[in-house]
Amino acid sequence: MSLQSRIQSGRPDERGDDEAREYGGGPAASQPMVADPYADLKSRIHHEIITKIGSRLFAGPGGDGELAEKVGEAVAEALAIDKTPLTRQERAQVTREIADDILGYGPLEPFLRDDTISEIMVNSAHTIFIERRGKITRSSAAFVDDQHLLRIIDKIISRVGRRVDEGSPMVDARLPDGSRVNAIIPPLAVKGPTLTIRKFRKDPFTMEDLLKFGTLTPKAGQFLEACVRGKLNILISGGTGSGKTTTLNVLSSAIPSDERIITVEDAAELQLRQEHVITLETRPANVEGKGQVTIRDLVRNTLRMRPDRIIVGECRGPETVDMLQAMNTGHDGSLTTAHANTPRDALARIETLVLTAGIDLPLRAIREQASSAFDLIVQVSRLVDGSRRITHVTEVLRMESDVVTLQDIFLAKPVETESEARSTGNRLLGPLTPTGIKPDCLDKLASNGVNLPTTFFQTDADRPAVATGAFGRQIAS
Ligand SMILES: Nc1ncnc2c1ncn2[C@@H]1O[C@H](COP(=O)(O)OP(=O)(O)OP(=O)(O)O)[C@@H](O)[C@H]1O
Ligand SMILES: [Mg+2]
Repeated sequence: MSLQSRIQSGRPDERGDDEAREYGGGPAASQPMVADPYADLKSRIHHEIITKIGSRLFAGPGGDGELAEKVGEAVAEALAIDKTPLTRQERAQVTREIADDILGYGPLEPFLRDDTISEIMVNSAHTIFIERRGKITRSSAAFVDDQHLLRIIDKIISRVGRRVDEGSPMVDARLPDGSRVNAIIPPLAVKGPTLTIRKFRKDPFTMEDLLKFGTLTPKAGQFLEACVRGKLNILISGGTGSGKTTTLNVLSSAIPSDERIITVEDAAELQLRQEHVITLETRPANVEGKGQVTIRDLVRNTLRMRPDRIIVGECRGPETVDMLQAMNTGHDGSLTTAHANTPRDALARIETLVLTAGIDLPLRAIREQASSAFDLIVQVSRLVDGSRRITHVTEVLRMESDVVTLQDIFLAKPVETESEARSTGNRLLGPLTPTGIKPDCLDKLASNGVNLPTTFFQTDADRPAVATGAFGRQIAS
């Protein structure tokens, strides 16, 4: 017999079949989920405790230890009065979960503690999805109701001095631990409050990690590292959550430590290892609608800060114009990301973003600026199996008539046959290998002191790949 039915019938320890609850109902029942057998009990006790000591719960920092003790006592007392039969283990679990609700971030606590979870998506009080190792699954955890979820959202957001209410129903914030949070509540979110948390990795991915995951090949890694050292302007393109920021962070680590790096982001996510780094972050408007500082303002400001490298977390608005101008006026080695699904789309996206600045330039002129600004586009994708892959390393050449010429230097081709799939470890894409084209940017790299042998770009059929261990060392000619 399931715990839930035991709770309902009040009789302990009768055996029965609990499969029925394994696939709970609810509005999104198409996804299998495990119903929480303690939900009723927890909700009852939670409400009782809120009524009893509620006014002191959200009073802010200070006295946490004392409060934790009080909550522990109150839960124990309420469980004793509530005659639900529970084993000692169940009692401990229920007590911990109620305390998490009241003192921490409720049902989100275990996800926040779990380092294997990278993203938490609360679609509504009863629908929580999590991403673990690239895979998104629905969790059995749930909030008691919308009010409960709202209280937790409020608690998260107020820690960083922000608020969410009907007047400002949409908030983007970075928590003190670096996690990125977005909350949007009714009336904008029609089905109830919604919360998305991109958890901060205490230990950011390195090139070695990406090589291990098969995101790219050692040879492509060597090439990209050489391009960063050799001051190419690089655009990382990809869809939402495809790994743009992670790739940007990894590539940035190849910037020599004697260069002055300035990063500009909406929410500071990049974690550069170099010493000479200045991190700038935008500021939203205050309640009176004043004091906003945009990415564009910051990019313009960086130009007066004598940067060797400008890294913009994402180009998503008029700042793109300033970024292009910076790149075209001697700030080589700049890196940024944009939202697009192919290298060609990425260029089209840049054009559209330039138009958002309201500048009155013919499209051809904008296209020309974009093509001379960027040297390389790195395309990242999240595949259906949850893995993140670099699919293209594409060189941006000059314009021919009205079209910018692009040439793929490295490419990961889709796997077509079963034997091919087996040989690539059942991956959906083959490895990121050279296409055999010798890039035009070799001259620019050479003028910045980075020399790559032309044989480097021979395809694997012509020459064996460079060993993993060689990554990061000077490339021999
Ligand atoms: N190469 C990779 N292999 C495995 N996981 C990755 C890889 N790159 C990124 N991730 C994971 O994918 C998630 C999204 O990564 P990231 O923040 O870099 O994406 P993004 O494209 O910048 O997203 P957004 O569009 O929201 O800014 C993170 O949890 C990150 O840890
Ligand atoms: Mg990002």
